[in-house]
Amino acid sequence: MEATSTSRSLVFLISGIAAMAGLLFGFDTGIISGALLFIENDFILSIQMKEWIVSSVLFGAMTGSLFSGKLTDSVGRRHTMLLISGLFISGTLIASLATTVSLILVGRLIIGLAIGIGSYTAPLYIAEISPVQLRGALVSLNQLAITIGILTSYLINYSFTHSHGSWRWMFGIGIIPATLLSLGMIFLPESPRWLIKKNQTRRAIDILQKLLPKETIVHEVASIKHSLQTAKPRFRDILSPWIRPVLFLGALLGFIQQATGINTIIYYAPTIFKLAGFHDTSSSILATIGIGVVNVAATIFAVFYLDQLGRRPLLITGLIGMALSLLGLSLVFLFIDANLPSLRWIAMGCTFSFIICFAFSLGAILWLVVSEIFPLDLRGIAMSVAVFSCWFWNFAVSSTFLSLLNTLGPSHTFLLYAILCVFSLIFCYYKIPETCGVTLEQIEENIRNRLPLRQIGQPIRPRNIGTKRPELQTTS
Ligand code: BGC
Repeated sequence: MEATSTSRSLVFLISGIAAMAGLLFGFDTGIISGALLFIENDFILSIQMKEWIVSSVLFGAMTGSLFSGKLTDSVGRRHTMLLISGLFISGTLIASLATTVSLILVGRLIIGLAIGIGSYTAPLYIAEISPVQLRGALVSLNQLAITIGILTSYLINYSFTHSHGSWRWMFGIGIIPATLLSLGMIFLPESPRWLIKKNQTRRAIDILQKLLPKETIVHEVASIKHSLQTAKPRFRDILSPWIRPVLFLGALLGFIQQATGINTIIYYAPTIFKLAGFHDTSSSILATIGIGVVNVAATIFAVFYLDQLGRRPLLITGLIGMALSLLGLSLVFLFIDANLPSLRWIAMGCTFSFIICFAFSLGAILWLVVSEIFPLDLRGIAMSVAVFSCWFWNFAVSSTFLSLLNTLGPSHTFLLYAILCVFSLIFCYYKIPETCGVTLEQIEENIRNRLPLRQIGQPIRPRNIGTKRPELQTTS
């Protein structure tokens, strides 16, 4: 169904405002890398305390992602987004005005809850208000917003380097996008799909008339109603044998995205640059801005090329590059005591190549693939399992990184991530399906026909596949 240019602009505007949640996700996770260096000036922090300040957001996000499916279904997407913006505003105020470390932790925990719920709700809301032919691009825009949020946080870290009490401003500036999100959401419409589910078809039609061409509305409403008449999933349905492999794949992709160490660099880049020999705080924060810039640039590349080159080639190439970069970092730190000036530049090169390879592969592909591989009936529940896995492993890696550096040393720590990256590469090579150019319905059909994971993106329906099609039980 073709969208008119007015409805197209409106959908882009709505998605842009909703993607503000992605921007805050990136901003609030990225800002800590610089702020941490200054919080230490005001409070005496043990290594555990530092890890907790970094990972309290992640703990909140993990918890938030668990409740997001239920919350968006009961109060609606729009009210959930409003709630998220309220959480962002209050968490930001508490963290930036904090007079004790415990208050920083409370503020960051509240921000984390908002990020966790937002990382699920924003793409869902965008997908539900988007016309089908724009949905892929708009979902990837959310990842782009995350990287722009990270870059913004790095720029702010840098510009506040010389101010007194700068960590308060670093946190506090997040109030601007949070307020924009909140004001924007007051005017944005509810998701028509959710309204129809709640028997508010009249309101849904009014909204659809603004988003879609007139002649398509009747068909759209009918197909939403039809999809709602199909079986309602129950939690135990996600453990049925035909769904288990994709559920496992989603959860494992969440693990792979995080266990290969992306956020050791996103959150602790200045610390790593200092270890590599860039001792001046402001120059290590400046180098971190470079990380933010290449992250955005490589994500733009992914947005344009994921549909042309396919998911698999980008993912496999990216993982190879990431493994080599981690190995390079490990070797540099092995010889760091030799005090060769070139070593710190090699360390920086490896860090940059790692980020580029992550951004055009795992960064965009995780969120894309988890929105593609789950059958419609179970997409909500299954997606929240994958999103939870991502936040859980993000938390596990970030909250142990400094301790690992301390106990194993940087060389062995990066070697560990390199080994995990090689295992991930082997798994992805054999198991990741190519989902490019295949309809979601065909993917679902292949899953129901119990094709091996690697083949669920096959466009042609194979012959001689299991005759019995697994169905969900219908609840009355
Ligand atoms: C990941 C985040 C990461 C970001 C970096 C996202 O896809 O989920 O953990 O910080 O990419 O760009």
